[in-house]
Amino acid sequence: MSTPFIGSPEHKELLCRFFIDTHTPFEPKDLPWPDLDEACMKRLQMLPIWDEAVKTEAETAMKVLELGKAEKDPLLSEAISLQGYEEARHAEMLRIMVKRYGLDAKTPPNLTPPADPNWTFMRVGYGECFDSFFAFGLFALARDSGFFTPGLVTLFDPIMQEEGRHIIFHVNWVAYNQAQLPFARRPTYVFRRALAVYLQAASRVRTALQLQGAGESPVGQDNFTMNAHSSFGEFSLRRFVEICMSENERRLAPYDERLERPSFVPAVAKQMLKVMPRSAASAPVAA
Ligand SMILES: [Fe+2]
Ligand SMILES: [Fe+2]
Repeated sequence: MSTPFIGSPEHKELLCRFFIDTHTPFEPKDLPWPDLDEACMKRLQMLPIWDEAVKTEAETAMKVLELGKAEKDPLLSEAISLQGYEEARHAEMLRIMVKRYGLDAKTPPNLTPPADPNWTFMRVGYGECFDSFFAFGLFALARDSGFFTPGLVTLFDPIMQEEGRHIIFHVNWVAYNQAQLPFARRPTYVFRRALAVYLQAASRVRTALQLQGAGESPVGQDNFTMNAHSSFGEFSLRRFVEICMSENERRLAPYDERLERPSFVPAVAKQMLKVMPRSAASAPVAA
């Protein structure tokens, strides 16, 4: 629900300042990229995600940078452009990783700038709210099971944290823009928000089905599924959702409590937990 703070000049200042002040400068090429043994390299090569990940990060960077250029408010423009820079850095990290560890990903095609950068950014942000929730859980599983070596965890933990900052920025950007509108125009904006969420959810389902289809490939989903238990350890779907919830909470906790947090995906996950069977591997969710 909208409060007087949401949409105020203080809200805009806080949502931009929190983002700009928590940015960490580094160059991907200067990071301590670890040498991996054969087994670790094979585990990474088995993941059917690299092509999609490289494409998504490159597209996201371009779309966010375009809104940074189009935004008229100097402070919002600075924060959005910085987010675009971080996304381009994620794409660069993945490019280095693909080359260094022989992962399977094509060079992304030439990208066309969006016709409506505001609408595109809204969709990108909701997409990140879906992806980050599950990526936080998967990263924790990869870290705790040893699937990712400590060297890789050190490199990619800050990237996960950056995605946490991105989704906090996004939900506050949406709330700020909505509160700026006259009452008569708000229902249309709410409809656009709902449409953006629906389109991003549908695209995640499509991607999941495509990844399932990658089972034909010798290094595809089947191999990954067959080896997931031995690589990530035993865990139930319920346990995975619980980990996603607690990691999501932990990642988003450090920032100013006046800022809104993404609520849709955690709320759906909470409802899912109510109907999922408990298993021996499950533990109570952190409140
Ligand atoms: Fe990213
Ligand atoms: Fe992001």
